[in-house]
Amino acid sequence: MAKMGRMISILWAFTIFTVATAQSELNTTNQVFNDDFQILFASDHFKTTENGQIWEVMLDKKSGSGFQTKHSYRFGWFTMKLKLVAGDSAGVVTAYYMASKDFETRDELDFEFLGNRSGQPYALQTNIYVNGVGLREQRNELWFDPTEDFHTYSFLWNNHQIIFFVDLVPLRVYRHTNVTDDVYPKTRPMYVFSSIWNADNWATMGGLEKTDWTKAPFVSSYKKFNADACMWEDPFPACVSTTGENWWDQPGAWTLTEAQKLDYAWARRNFLIYDYCLDTKRFNDTLPVECSVSPW
Ligand SMILES: *[C@@H]1O[C@H](CO)[C@@H](O)[C@H](O)[C@H]1NC(C)=O
Ligand SMILES: *[C@@H]1O[C@H](CO)[C@@H](O)[C@H](O)[C@H]1NC(C)=O
Ligand SMILES: *[C@@H]1O[C@H](CO)[C@@H](O)[C@H](O)[C@H]1NC(C)=O
Ligand SMILES: *[C@@H]1O[C@H](CO)[C@@H](O)[C@H](O)[C@H]1NC(C)=O
Repeated sequence: MAKMGRMISILWAFTIFTVATAQSELNTTNQVFNDDFQILFASDHFKTTENGQIWEVMLDKKSGSGFQTKHSYRFGWFTMKLKLVAGDSAGVVTAYYMASKDFETRDELDFEFLGNRSGQPYALQTNIYVNGVGLREQRNELWFDPTEDFHTYSFLWNNHQIIFFVDLVPLRVYRHTNVTDDVYPKTRPMYVFSSIWNADNWATMGGLEKTDWTKAPFVSSYKKFNADACMWEDPFPACVSTTGENWWDQPGAWTLTEAQKLDYAWARRNFLIYDYCLDTKRFNDTLPVECSVSPW
């Protein structure tokens, strides 16, 4: 029953987004890595498949690797398909995230996929940093095996809300309201990053499960990046739309649609593992200000 409801609402959400993304979907089918990206670190642990359409980051005992967009953006829709390290991936973190450039004062939006022992489910951790401060972790399980096939992970970012989507299901909403004005990322343009690294000091079962290096190399794959977004240009707030029409800034993208609200509730009810906004103990009963804001 819940499954059926979700299927129907995904269809609605899909219709809305197809209109906006169909054009650029077409154009990303033959995406050239070097047009959009540059290697962030360890080019010897990165490769593209023969046809150039799939980008692989590799982790072994020596190094992980990563790549990032050449341009930064302020507001838009950012989407990528990922297929994660299969088998024993405990300790390994694969990430798809956005971040502004000065580390100390950065704004950042994270999808972090925390690996697990064979047969145990991945956890998807999301986090939001504002002006260098994070501590806004949320963790979910997924309703599919993210190592079996590519799935779509997307950010919608405008001046009203930030949404983290998994296959177009809104997993997390962060809203700009009067009370959150100081903790809402809005002025710093962000680059989009992809990477893999060893995090066996914290990632799996709180760091108890260590990376099994006999299983290395660990490989995660990315494809079909798309940014329907405003490409950054100085001075603030100038930017150039990459599609000619800022649908992500229009009122239709300022709050969740009715169908998206159902999907959000479904995902939260069935797949939420941890939410810092429910962790009163951690914050000594004084939760961060944004925790008082409803998702719509
Ligand atoms: C997509 O490609 C078509 C054909 O090459 C071109 O006419 C169109 O402007 C492109 N659209 C975008 C959004 O780049
Ligand atoms: C938020 O600020 C605007 C502009 O100052 C004001 O009109 C509005 O009433 C405020 N809303 C709330 C909920 O405080
Ligand atoms: C790993 O699997 C265990 C057992 O199913 C689960 O409790 C945990 O949340 C999973 N994920 C991580 C990242 O530890
Ligand atoms: C909560 O209180 C403990 C003990 O007083 C303190 O060590 C800790 O830093 C506090 N945490 C926060 C988030 O204020």
